[in-house]
Amino acid sequence: MKDQYGRTIDYLRISITDACNLRCRYCMPESAAGCALEQAEQNPPLTVEEMLKIVHAAAGLGITHYRITGGEPLVRKECVELVQKIKAVPGTASVGITTNGVRLASCARDLKAAGCDSVNVSLDTVDAAEFAALTGRDALEQVKQGICAAKEAGLLVKLNAVHRKELHAQELIEFAEQEKVPVRFIEVMPVGAGKSYVGPSNEALKTELEQWYGACTPDQEKEGNGPAAYVRYEKLSMPVGFISAIHGKFCGSCNRVRLTSRGFLKLCLCYENGVDLREVLQNGTAADLRDVMAQAILKKPMEHCFERPKDMTEHHLMSGIGG
Ligand code: GTP
Ligand code: 5AD
Ligand code: SF4
Repeated sequence: MKDQYGRTIDYLRISITDACNLRCRYCMPESAAGCALEQAEQNPPLTVEEMLKIVHAAAGLGITHYRITGGEPLVRKECVELVQKIKAVPGTASVGITTNGVRLASCARDLKAAGCDSVNVSLDTVDAAEFAALTGRDALEQVKQGICAAKEAGLLVKLNAVHRKELHAQELIEFAEQEKVPVRFIEVMPVGAGKSYVGPSNEALKTELEQWYGACTPDQEKEGNGPAAYVRYEKLSMPVGFISAIHGKFCGSCNRVRLTSRGFLKLCLCYENGVDLREVLQNGTAADLRDVMAQAILKKPMEHCFERPKDMTEHHLMSGIGG
């Protein structure tokens, strides 16, 4: 369907859990993890059945692309089952998953068999000590094994690296070249713990990389369904993506809404606007659900206001929103 600004909304991100097995400082620092756990006990996540009801309603509204997020989606046992069931819904064009990769090695083949199309793996550094310091866990090897297993299973893999001051972009690019996967650099958004990390611009990085890899030109191929802009450098075999949420606002072409693990349909990362679907799931019909979702999507805000943090109304952690 189209929103009030004429944007076609065809992409739903579904967060299936707030829990995570890492503690990335900009996302779910140790200090905030206890609070997330407490909330989960008071208000449990939607069941697979409930999520599927929402997916059927979304399909009726023209949603064709789905991405499963978290927290860390693979900490929830039903993740593979959910992928398979969403893929079976008439109209579904793609189902992807965004993961930290820690548990990916053990379920990559099952994900592929379930019909998963793509796996975006968060990897901010390929230095083991730095990885442990940033994520609070010594799990770099597991993530690397997960990436290999996903490729071997035939899944389309992309890497997500958050653009922090300490970013070693060349090391990440070399790893991506070796693994033959695209890497995307993401500008930190002032959401949750990310507020203290906002900084470097992707534009400067894009130009800086030309010193090493030669001139860059926009990539002609479409690598995903999201906001990343891809370029090709002369000396690299893989495209490099830039998700420039702050310095290259892409809201004009936004195609998505988000479902939190507790059933809140969220319209934009920046604001808490949206609608709680739990009540409709429990007391309404399938038609009610569709209508409530359609009414909410119509009210999707025009753009974020990350450049004016005081105007933001979203104050949850990124792990509770799903990125
Ligand atoms: P594909 O392009 O389909 O592979 O997915 P994606 O890049 O949209 O999804 P992914 O979960 O890998 O997200 C990568 C980064 O983009 C994360 O940091 C997200 O928070 C960010 N992101 C995704 N969608 C949006 C959006 O609508 N607005 C903003 N500002 N950031 C987004
Ligand atoms: N800004 C930008 N990206 C973030 N992520 C988590 N928090 C932030 C933030 N504040 C990224 C994760 C993961 C994706 C889902 O979102 O690193 O790759
Ligand atoms: Fe869409 Fe909001 Fe993201 Fe902008 S910040 S691209 S409007 S979800």
